[in-house]
Order: sequence, then structure tokens, then C-alpha cells
Amino acid sequence: MRDLPQDLSVERVEEAEGTVSVRFAPDGHVATFRRDWLVEQAGRPEHDGRSERGKRRWQAADLAGCMPVEDWAQYVQEPAVRLRTLELVELLGFAILRRTPAVEGTVLDIAGTLGYVRETNYGRLFDVRAEVNPNNLAYTGLAIAPHTDNPYRDPVPTLQLLHCLSNAVDGGDSGLVDGFAAAALLREEDVEAFGVLARTPVLFAWSDAYAALRAERTIIGLDALGRIREVRLNHRSMETVRLSPRDAADFYTAYRRFSEIVSRAELQLTFRLDPGDCVIFDNVRLLHSRTAFSEGASGGRHLQGCYADMDGLESTVAVLRRMA
Ligand code: FE2
Repeated sequence: MRDLPQDLSVERVEEAEGTVSVRFAPDGHVATFRRDWLVEQAGRPEHDGRSERGKRRWQAADLAGCMPVEDWAQYVQEPAVRLRTLELVELLGFAILRRTPAVEGTVLDIAGTLGYVRETNYGRLFDVRAEVNPNNLAYTGLAIAPHTDNPYRDPVPTLQLLHCLSNAVDGGDSGLVDGFAAAALLREEDVEAFGVLARTPVLFAWSDAYAALRAERTIIGLDALGRIREVRLNHRSMETVRLSPRDAADFYTAYRRFSEIVSRAELQLTFRLDPGDCVIFDNVRLLHSRTAFSEGASGGRHLQGCYADMDGLESTVAVLRRMA
């Protein structure tokens, strides 16, 4: 950029057969562009689709009768179905694949169809089932409130897959909330509280005998133009905020308001994962939850999950669009 003259300007533009020539001052440099290339540049999307601008926000009722569900066999065989499914993950934040093999490790194969597995201290995949000595609430039968995973990680995994191997328990239903819709409601109802959550850095941390992770981020993350781009919500891994008494009061008031919006019944999409179902969701937009469960006489509840990233999924979508 420093190679260019400071007083650079366009001196003359000439159109010829399919080309546009631009003569620049002060050095008289002439650049010739293909007209169709210039038109193509003008028509390119001006954003990457990750902020709220590229999303369709939803509440539970909006998805009644139109859940983003696809059949695994069709997804594998037909690029058009694969494209449609992954576009729904971009647009709505999630999609569900039904009738995948209810076999251990399948979640990694599914992740491989849309991007790359993100290995973490939990491994390439993690088992979600009731354990005797759990190091995480996920590994109990207790209810889990809507949250995003791993906000203590930088970079945070932007995509999560949960694959059901068995679910023969009473309870254990899955829930999703559109965190962008919840944040937008907060902005509508209490713009001050929205601002507090968008500008107050929060330290998220997690550790066990083998790992010690921490990342400082805001609960609502905005892009450079102030649009909602990320949501992090996980009270189990949030450290106590260290703020002045006044700022702390404002922060906790805003945090409570946001948590109340997230908990509203109309925002909760509840569904049951059956063996072979796999839910794929945007982990910096959607909040996931589950109801409590108790082991039934007929068997337990066992999910396998893994992390991946939205950039890989978006790349897969772009390549599938080229083929369409
Ligand atoms: Fe989780």
C-alpha cells in the first residue's frame, strides 16, 4: 500500500470490447479489467455470512413442521441434499441427520463430510453418558441449562456434532435456543443491558488434572459494524467478574436479563434424539440443553460428540455450490 502515490486518482476511463481501461494519475499507469470480472466483483456478497446479517433468526414456533431434518443416506448420495443441509446449518444454526449408523465413532465420519474434526483435551470425540466420577456436568443425568460449549477455549470450536447411540431413558430430551434471536430480543427490550454484555470482558476457565484453559471474551460478540456475531453463555465456566461495584451491578443485571430471555419457553426448541440421529450446530450462535434423565430398565443414554469449525463447513458449502 505504501508503494502507491498518496494523491492517487482516476484520470480517465475507457470502455472497449468487453474491457474497461482505467488511467490513473499522477503516474499515468493504465490498468485494463475484463468487464464481466468487474460486474462479478460488484455482485459479490459484502459480508462473510457469519454475523446476524447472514442468518435467519428463529423461535421454536417458527420451526414447527419445518425442522431442518435430512436422511443420512440421501445426504451421502446426493450433493444437492448435502448442500441444502449445510446451508441450513449456516442459516438456522443447526440441522439434524436421521438414520445414520448408530455405531460408535460415526460422529467423526459425519464431521468428515462437512469439514475437519477439532481435537481437544476431551479427545477427537467425547462420550456423553452418566459416569460414576464425572468431571463435567455432561457426564451426569442432571438437567443442563442452555449454554454454549468451551467458551474457555481460544479459538472456541464454532461447530459441534452430537450423535445419539442410545436414548432409552426417561427424560434426556434435547433443547436448542437461537442465541442470536435471544441477543436481538435483549437489544430490543433493553439496549443498555445489550451494550453491557457486548463490551464487558468475561473470563471463562476450565481445568481438571490434565488441562487448564482460559479465555477472556464478551458474552455477546459484535463485528466491527456492531452486528451480533457470537454468543457465549456458560455459567459453569464463567469466573467471577472483577468490576467496580457499579459496573458489577450493571453486568449482573444485564446477565440476568439475557439469561431470562434465553429461558423463555417460546425460544426453547425441544426434541428427542433417537439412536442414529445426529444434530450439527453452530456453537457460537445456538445454545444447547438437555432435560434430566434417569436410567430406564431398558437401557441408558449414550451420545458421542465432537467439535469442528464453521469455516470448514462454509468451504464445503462453497465447493458444493460450484458443482450445483
Ligand atoms: Fe454442552
